[in-house]
Amino acid sequence: MRLDKYLADMGIGTRSELKAKIRKGSATVNGSIIKDPGFQVPAQAIVTFCGQTVSYESNAYYMLNKPAGVISATEDPKLKTVIDLIEESHRTDLFPVGRLDKDTEGLLLITNDGALSHRLLSPKHHVDKVYYAIISGIVSKQEITAFANGLKVDDDLTAMPADLTILHTDPEKVTSEVEITIREGKFHQIKRMFEAVGMKVMYLKRIKMGSLSLDPALSPGEYRRLTQDEVEALQSNETKGTY
Ligand code: URA
Repeated sequence: MRLDKYLADMGIGTRSELKAKIRKGSATVNGSIIKDPGFQVPAQAIVTFCGQTVSYESNAYYMLNKPAGVISATEDPKLKTVIDLIEESHRTDLFPVGRLDKDTEGLLLITNDGALSHRLLSPKHHVDKVYYAIISGIVSKQEITAFANGLKVDDDLTAMPADLTILHTDPEKVTSEVEITIREGKFHQIKRMFEAVGMKVMYLKRIKMGSLSLDPALSPGEYRRLTQDEVEALQSNETKGTY
């Protein structure tokens, strides 16, 4: 791998900043100053930048509390993306695992681990996704039963059975707070499910995906690295097929 990419992947700076600094002699590989940003770093090499050792981490995992107003994409010419929010990292290989609508908040896993992402999103694994929602309308046992039975949403979608829990209803405002667990991730799925029973989702936030729960310490727009335990739980839940 090129020296400038190695350092950029580890969040040391942007490729252009790094190129300039490497040319000035800020980087060493196995003890020698390397001024060529395109120098191929050998496997197991010891790399330093401005006197600090920089170890290469091949996989990165972040938990983001996605705020409303940003899109679940890697880049966009006009709109802010979830990747733009991961300011700590200048890696070019990060992507969000799945999508949340622009107005949806909450848990989004950002990684460069394609294999894990593929398995978490694969329709055959039915990974549980838990959302908190505020609904315009009074949700009742009728909707709980309809969702549990696998709701016919429209001609394109009959949802798999979903667990709906009523947290609170407000008869004056005619609103309900609910928690809903779905095991698939179709386009606008939750909004479409409530529309199919004559109600509207006013606010939607994902709070859990598989074994991973949104850290309540993260405000919208904030992120943190996953702990080793969280990464292992996602990987082992997954490979054991326990979802
Ligand atoms: N369902 C939706 O309708 N929107 C989301 O963002 C996620 C699930």
